[in-house]
Amino acid sequence: MAAIVVSLASSLLSSSPSSSVITKLRPLPALNLPFVSVPSYFHGRKFMARTITRATLGLTRPVDIEPLKISFAAKDVDVIEWKGDMLAVGVTEKDMSKDDNMNFENSILKKLDSQLGGLLSQASSEEDFTGRAGQSTILRLPGLGFKRVGLIGLGIQSSSVAAFRGLGEAVSAAAKAAQASNVAVVLASSEGLSAECKLNTVAAVASGTMLGIYEDNRFKSESKKPTLTALDIIGLGTGPDLEKRLKLVQDVCSGVILGKELVNAPANVLTPGVLAEEASKIGSMYSDVITAKILDVEQCQELGMGSYLGVAAASANPPHFIHLCYKPLSGPVKAKLGLVGKGLTFDSGGYNIKTGPGCSIELMKFDMGGSAAVLGAAKAIGQIKPPGVEVHFIVAACENLISGTGMRPGDILTASNGKTIEVNNTDAEGRLTLADALIYACNQGVEKVIDLATLTGACIVALGPSIAGIFTPSDDLAKEVLAASDVTGEKLWRMPLEESYWESMKSGVADMVNTGGRPGGAITAALFLKQFVDEKVEWLHMDIAGPVWNEKKRAATGFGVSTLVEWVLKNSS
Ligand code: BES
Ligand code: MN
Ligand code: ZN
Repeated sequence: MAAIVVSLASSLLSSSPSSSVITKLRPLPALNLPFVSVPSYFHGRKFMARTITRATLGLTRPVDIEPLKISFAAKDVDVIEWKGDMLAVGVTEKDMSKDDNMNFENSILKKLDSQLGGLLSQASSEEDFTGRAGQSTILRLPGLGFKRVGLIGLGIQSSSVAAFRGLGEAVSAAAKAAQASNVAVVLASSEGLSAECKLNTVAAVASGTMLGIYEDNRFKSESKKPTLTALDIIGLGTGPDLEKRLKLVQDVCSGVILGKELVNAPANVLTPGVLAEEASKIGSMYSDVITAKILDVEQCQELGMGSYLGVAAASANPPHFIHLCYKPLSGPVKAKLGLVGKGLTFDSGGYNIKTGPGCSIELMKFDMGGSAAVLGAAKAIGQIKPPGVEVHFIVAACENLISGTGMRPGDILTASNGKTIEVNNTDAEGRLTLADALIYACNQGVEKVIDLATLTGACIVALGPSIAGIFTPSDDLAKEVLAASDVTGEKLWRMPLEESYWESMKSGVADMVNTGGRPGGAITAALFLKQFVDEKVEWLHMDIAGPVWNEKKRAATGFGVSTLVEWVLKNSS
């Protein structure tokens, strides 16, 4: 039987180039044991990886969809003169105030309204549009340079990143509904904004629009291509600084989209091996600045990663330890950073299997959300190429399943720093994989390391679905990361690393257990990770169990990518 097996990874993501790894494979066995050895291939500078791949369970292959392309432009034209499909005006509640004759007081609204013969003021009164956040009204017009005009509410105050991101999202929704291809956005009041504030506003609107337009349709048999191709942002300045910032938005958005696609991909498609191939592709796409190194089981064994390999032991899909290294094109390196992501492509719980309502086992493909954020950030950094900073992106990828070869509750694992762990719950597996990943990261000589992980349900109980918990002994690092999240609008909340809670993590037979009971579960998980971080390294843990997933949209958020990129840029020179 002759068989052609197409590299799974080459088709996983719509934004990937065509197959980068061409391999001649042994024919598949006649019966359905679809393991295929892929010959070793070289990747990066000094590294050789051996990959095992197999036909996808369920025969699912993501559809190759063209990457989303929207061109952004900052313009300084009179709104009346602009030509295109739709002009969207962001308005605050204050902008909507009218004088005694029911005319707008705001100059832009007044000008538009007089062009439209009072249609805007009439429609806003009839529809009770007051400029509240989340409100929008769109009118179809004859005889102007643009076919539609929309008012989009920004709320009482419009100065937050979240409000402008929301404006972009509303613009994308209106553009989808109207099947518009070119849209302009203007703020009713933008006087008095500082240059920096204008830059941040433009960036937030552009990224809100881009990510709002994006839909992950790779696993649908039918889908429509988005119509929006151009977004003009009017009245917030022009020039090279703005253009540079818009390019940055494009780069970050492509990283966020990669993050979303990795999380959305189901566990039968995105196995640890495929995740590793996706990482390798980032290495080959940005080979001028990024090198990729993938360690297989034997190499991890040699490094003594018993904690990580314990988790991986039940799975037929072998683990892959991913290490990407970014180095600037030229110039000295002033800061060495590490980004570590939890990469459980599926978490069944193991022998402590996830059962019962609310355990969300069917969503546990998202348990690699930390690694998706780290790889999304790697892709963005590969495009941005910041100077003065070296970044290590590290993922200990595996699955947490059940089989005769798997670890049992009560087993004792030995991590690569020699510490021993009594596994009193196989469902607390993320911390076991992160232990060896953090040790490895610290051995790269990094000064600061951040790990991201869908680590605990307890963090969702504490902070709800849209806020990530951060844990760190370093006030400086907490400040840096919180400052980065202020720019990106991702919501973080610092939680205490209460050392006295370590008491519940003591074992009678090993150095520690891996779970300490329900109270303070997100904190004891963070204290566990701390055991594996070099004291000389500044470390911050981010628990993204809640914000990784948008329950309403039933899709991944790409949470973490933008804040990580912003933090790396703040550390660059
Ligand atoms: N991946 C889960 C955490 C999780 C749960 C994320 C629900 C998102 C939604 C993690 O591996 C886990 O199972 N944690 C356990 C820890 C417990 C056994 C101490 C948890 O949170 O229940
Ligand atoms: Mn678990
Ligand atoms: Zn997990």
